[in-house]
Amino acid sequence: FEVTWDAAAAEKGGWSSFMAKEVSEEPEAVANTIRGRIHEGTVVIPELDGLDDLFSGISRIVVIACGTAAYAGQVGKYALEKWARVPVDVELAHEFRYRDPVIGPGTLVVSISQSGETMDTLMAVKFAREQGAKTLSICNTQGATIPRESDAVVYTHAGPEVAVASTKAFVAQITALYLLALHVGRIRDTIAAVDIAEHVRELEAIPAKIQRVLTLEQAHIEQLAHWMADTRSVLFLGRNVGYPIALEGALKLKEISYIHAEGFAAGELKHGPIALVEPGQPVFVLVPSPRHSALLHSKVVSNIQEIQARGARVIVIAEEGDAAVLPFADEVLHIPLAGAMFEPLLAVVPLHIFAMGLATARGLDVDQPRNLAKSVTVE
Ligand code: G6P
Repeated sequence: FEVTWDAAAAEKGGWSSFMAKEVSEEPEAVANTIRGRIHEGTVVIPELDGLDDLFSGISRIVVIACGTAAYAGQVGKYALEKWARVPVDVELAHEFRYRDPVIGPGTLVVSISQSGETMDTLMAVKFAREQGAKTLSICNTQGATIPRESDAVVYTHAGPEVAVASTKAFVAQITALYLLALHVGRIRDTIAAVDIAEHVRELEAIPAKIQRVLTLEQAHIEQLAHWMADTRSVLFLGRNVGYPIALEGALKLKEISYIHAEGFAAGELKHGPIALVEPGQPVFVLVPSPRHSALLHSKVVSNIQEIQARGARVIVIAEEGDAAVLPFADEVLHIPLAGAMFEPLLAVVPLHIFAMGLATARGLDVDQPRNLAKSVTVE
């Protein structure tokens, strides 16, 4: 008699992979990152107590990161600029460090890293400090090297992430950036208290909305991925805050499905990418809510018409009740209604499920993709 016990399977808690488990934990990752940081309708970040001068005297913010974390940074730029009115540049850490950037005491360098050990990001943080910049780290790993090398840290509380492709840490990073943007906006007096209160309410509603996407759309998306198992290339289009999400959707496919995938800003379509569209080409389009901007919505809907006319297979991600997209879409994946800035936290969920579904349908190991490491500790 022999008892067989698989330690790895036990840790996955019944899920087929760590990635599947971690995607299912996205609601929790957001909720845990918010917890303890909202007080009476405003943002209070205990770790930043007494550090107001990190934010009051700055003239710009430079966000540095690699991979998925850099896309979270690109989403965060929209919030930091809108709510805190500070100019923000987002740069890949390895590019930043080697190009003689103009930084100094008036610059706050915000690094984002799940592991807190990515060498490219760490070296860029050290370099920034040497130049006299202030540094703040957004990190998911307590006591990691990057937060230790920074003036301040805001931890994401996504919990340990095991799968190489980052999912729950990504939504937690965006959440932390939004909290930071509201915090900086409050200190700099660039956003009204009523607006902070409204955004805080929106943020608190996100976990349940992510859960709704998982509950209502997961099976549909997995089936779609199964049908598309032999696809050789997938394109992703997004606009505004949806643009970095298109990039993230494409990165996930590359990482775990090994197929060609590219994300584009929807407005850029006519400047080049539309030449790639031939009959049968799958294209995911993230559609911004018409409630926030009828103009942006109509522009993206006309992008959809343009690619559909050229035979693309159009998979639309749109808010529930958006009927305008229906006539031109082969598939529609719905997300709940949310404030304009909060749509990325919902729209990314179908893309994570899709990448996982496609890799699974192709018989690949979603947790340990070839050639990649969870944390790259060499330059
Ligand atoms: C590696 C991983 C990516 C991750 C990137 C940044 O390349 O494969 O999934 O996005 O590092 O990692 P970090 O720990 O700094 O967020």
